[in-house]
Amino acid sequence: MEKLKVVIISNDIDLKINIKNMLSDDNIAISGFLEYDNMTNLKILGYSPDVVIMIYDQKEGQIFEIAEQVYAQIQGASVIMLSEEVDINLLTKAMQYGIKHVLLLKTSDKELKEAIFKAYTLEKKRVSDNSFIKSSRSKVISFFGGKGGTGKTTIAVNTAVQLALNGKKTVIIDADLQFGDVTVLLDIDPKDTIYELSREKGDMNIDVVKSMLSLHSSGLDVLAAPKSPELSEYVNEKIIELIINTIRPYYEYIIIDLPPGFNDTTIAIIESSDIVNLVASVDIVALRNAKICLGILDALRQKDKVELVLNRASDGIISKKDFENILGLSPKIYLPDDTKTVLTSMNKGVPFVVGMPKSTLAKIIKDYTSAL
Ligand SMILES: Nc1ncnc2c1ncn2[C@@H]1O[C@H](COP(=O)(O)OP(=O)(O)OP(=O)(O)O)[C@@H](O)[C@H]1O
Ligand SMILES: [Mg+2]
Repeated sequence: MEKLKVVIISNDIDLKINIKNMLSDDNIAISGFLEYDNMTNLKILGYSPDVVIMIYDQKEGQIFEIAEQVYAQIQGASVIMLSEEVDINLLTKAMQYGIKHVLLLKTSDKELKEAIFKAYTLEKKRVSDNSFIKSSRSKVISFFGGKGGTGKTTIAVNTAVQLALNGKKTVIIDADLQFGDVTVLLDIDPKDTIYELSREKGDMNIDVVKSMLSLHSSGLDVLAAPKSPELSEYVNEKIIELIINTIRPYYEYIIIDLPPGFNDTTIAIIESSDIVNLVASVDIVALRNAKICLGILDALRQKDKVELVLNRASDGIISKKDFENILGLSPKIYLPDDTKTVLTSMNKGVPFVVGMPKSTLAKIIKDYTSAL
């Protein structure tokens, strides 16, 4: 175990030394002694302590404000207060300002150490529970295409995994309700899916959603497609909208893999998205198809959020330039054809951003996620 970093604050040097002596322990390191002055707060930050021991001093008006700022500014740090006398007023005030323990100055070494370890454990737990905190920067990015087999799932999965690897709180929703294969690409065997979640529509909340998610080793949360195609009819656009709205505040990125073509559900998801990645392979049929899709998205007033993804590019009659000229969009992602990388990662159930991070495909996805 790494040593707990403790900072002691008092204007009385003897008291500080006394407490330091009480805390001689292999698991505790006294990283600093401070006094109460205008700079106390700033100085505490410099130590990034796990526990701050504050000796109560009636003359020091800003003690509680200092405690409050420790909580606000140093994640995982907690405050213990020592006082010559402890009465109900002091306890109440300490509670209001989030101080973990108030002990008598004449407390025993053992009691003080116990309080330190307890405060530390409690605060760490609180912080980790709250790692599911609301994120204000949530982005919903869906992968769409009028035509089947253009690479939507491959690119959505690798993008989502890379975002999770980048440390972003990310979830992927497999909205290809009949033939979703996100979990195959991730080699996950989900217990629950969007179908089971839909049955809970009466009391949908973040905890219910969390309980139905599967976790990938990259840290990515996965909401799987129903296990069997006929179950898809229980999941409608209203439920998907409800799910997206429920989880939106808790994720930085919500990646949605769509089936090919338009239906009520895909349209609802497109409407809920911030970015719609229109995935097309680089060939004449795909170009025509992408043109038709753009026309429909325009009619649905969704064209502004569309970004072009060109996949499986190789030297052929149709070029990137043709797509740009005809669609009036330049591709945000432009991936080469690389059957070896894609098939190897698919067969192993390891996305190429993890299994083949040096491949061109992985590098392009990495660059894309960094720019998001
Ligand atoms: N850049 C690439 N190079 C080579 N093969 C690729 C590439 N991208 C995708 N593929 C292959 O193309 C096929 C279709 O890919 P994928 O399943 O991702 O497409 P999709 O658009 O999700 O399909 P569907 O419309 O059926 O959901 C897969 O066999 C995949 O391995
Ligand atoms: Mg797919």
